[in-house]
Amino acid sequence: MDLDTAPALAPAIAEHSLDPEDWTGMRALGHQVMDDMLDYLEGVRERPAWQPMPGEVVERLREDVPERGEGAEAAYRAFRELVLPYPVGNIHPRFWGRVMGTGTAFGMMAELMAAAMNTNASGLANAASHVEAQVLEWFRALFGFPEGASGIMLSGASAANLVGLATARTARADGDVIRGGIRVLGRRPVVYCSEETHNSIDRAVVLLGIGRDFLRRIPTDDQFRIRLDLLEQAIRDDVLVGLQPLCIVGNAGTVATGATDDLEALAELAARFGAWFHVDGAFGALAALSPELRGQVAGLSRADSLAFDMHKWLYMPYEAAAVIIRDREAHHRTFALSAAYLGRAERGAEADEFRFNEYGPQLSRSFRALKVWLSLREHGTERYARQIEQNVAQASYLAELAWDHPELELLAPAPLNIVCFRYRGRGIPEERLDGLNAELLMRLQERGIAVPTTGRVRGRFAIRVANTNHRSRREDFQLLAESVVAIGREITDEMELAG
Ligand SMILES: Cc1ncc(COP(=O)(O)O)c(C=O)c1O
Repeated sequence: MDLDTAPALAPAIAEHSLDPEDWTGMRALGHQVMDDMLDYLEGVRERPAWQPMPGEVVERLREDVPERGEGAEAAYRAFRELVLPYPVGNIHPRFWGRVMGTGTAFGMMAELMAAAMNTNASGLANAASHVEAQVLEWFRALFGFPEGASGIMLSGASAANLVGLATARTARADGDVIRGGIRVLGRRPVVYCSEETHNSIDRAVVLLGIGRDFLRRIPTDDQFRIRLDLLEQAIRDDVLVGLQPLCIVGNAGTVATGATDDLEALAELAARFGAWFHVDGAFGALAALSPELRGQVAGLSRADSLAFDMHKWLYMPYEAAAVIIRDREAHHRTFALSAAYLGRAERGAEADEFRFNEYGPQLSRSFRALKVWLSLREHGTERYARQIEQNVAQASYLAELAWDHPELELLAPAPLNIVCFRYRGRGIPEERLDGLNAELLMRLQERGIAVPTTGRVRGRFAIRVANTNHRSRREDFQLLAESVVAIGREITDEMELAG
């Protein structure tokens, strides 16, 4: 490159921005959008819990990229017609599928505020990092982690589990994995968890180069908690053949049944074998907000790292999750890779002391913390604790309905907010129950009555209800149980007619 020659003079051209030419019109549209969205939330109960997207609507979405814009109003009309009526349904009072949160009206507004600021929460001196640090500080204290522990907000518990395990690898692997990668390790690392553990742990061991063959999924007891005797045996066997017990993963609320492992015992075991102790508390960790439920997740605060979601049992709009990590230095070492273009200055916009991009895999990051900060200010932790207790009480009520009804069968204990049950009917052979219940679940969803999703308990098909829904009422669970019985009978009649 020749810097002795002056750059060529650029001709003056008409300049534009993407800001509205007509701010008054945009303001009117903005007010309309806000009104429509609040109506949408307020009226959610009146709509079906789920409805399929008609083929014709899907077809209309398949259009060529617009070369010439149609304007914001027309684009908004397309959203209202083609997108808004077909959500996954998780804001509905009778949606209990997978483990999904419901969001709130103010949470929605917080997203608008964050989008207006459009802050990149990666670094540079600005309020977003301070807000995020404060939110993490609140949760550090709520979960009983020591002062000085670090953390970061992430997209979901999957990412939080990955960051927790990545830090475990840095801190405990037998060699400098940051410099040399997994191949320089003296002993091959092994991760342990129960067979009920979420597959984001599998994904983490794959991405970290540990490999699925070195993830030991240990069987569980009749409460779906990891069998400590089998875990210890597995660790001893691995040590004997020269492998390294790198990390034990405990569950605070398993995805299938809401079981919590004996976290105190896992902490002891991890300490004995020099392993890192990670807890996947995607939703269950939030039970610690309630004095009534805290005992169920006792031992949480002994984890080296704790992953939890805020878009599940804290009812935040997607996406919001975090990991809290006891060893700040190991956390930082895992992700802090300096680069000249990310320089730090003594003053000015680059004088930030703390950069979240040095604690996680993302450089550019959205201002996720704002909705959490605002919502906690809006409601306070006590209110969240009550909502969580309400969900647990509702789950117990449903479990009771399933237990009491002669045609229903409760398939697993429901210690928290997850209920697995099925239609048993009268005298229906076991081998027909999976098919019957699968059909029943689809009819429940397709008729827009309610959205539980598929569960499997010890190989049996279950109608699985995961209640992280602040809009549900007791009557909704009653309606669910009644509908399951009615549709179960309907299918039984059809089966008998069919011989
Ligand atoms: C126990 C558990 N861990 C991890 C996850 C993954 O969370 P996310 O979907 O937020 O990545 C889930 C999701 O349901 C979960 O239930």
